[in-house]
Amino acid sequence: MKTSELKICYKVRSHSELSFDEQVLLKSASEAAIKAYAPYSHFRVGAAVKLANGEILSGCNQENAAYPSGLCAERVTVFYANAIYPDIAVETLLITVLDENGDYRSRAIPPCGACRQVLTETESRQKSPMRVLLVGKDEVLEFDSASDLLPFIFTSNELL
Ligand code: THU
Repeated sequence: MKTSELKICYKVRSHSELSFDEQVLLKSASEAAIKAYAPYSHFRVGAAVKLANGEILSGCNQENAAYPSGLCAERVTVFYANAIYPDIAVETLLITVLDENGDYRSRAIPPCGACRQVLTETESRQKSPMRVLLVGKDEVLEFDSASDLLPFIFTSNELL
């Protein structure tokens, strides 16, 4: 038997280190989070993407009384971007969460597994990495690629 080890590199940053472009993306994600339809969890997630054509699009989680029918903010946003611009790459995805008072959560909140699966397939589809920024009040985590968040990804190669 052999034991292997995986190493994931990411940056730990702070709000004050956000560039102007990143602050614009954060504003867009925060405004989206306020519009979240989250009457069941009250967990307001906002996401914003910067596309290769410079456009910024945003989205938020959409819940449903039939719980599994709802969708996370990340997938709402990336599917929205791909629906409008199927051939334009998503360069950066920023995710943030607001509490019921509209304040940032202190910790950076990572995307769920299903969202990671969609984000990594989006990277394969666009043939370029998607930078991911997870923004909390006290920490900002930056990943160069969504695939860094999902080791052992299931890809279309597995279907062959
Ligand atoms: N949620 C997201 O929007 N993104 C995630 O990655 C995790 C969870 C949403 C789904 C649901 O509306 C609420 O947060 C609680 O799970």
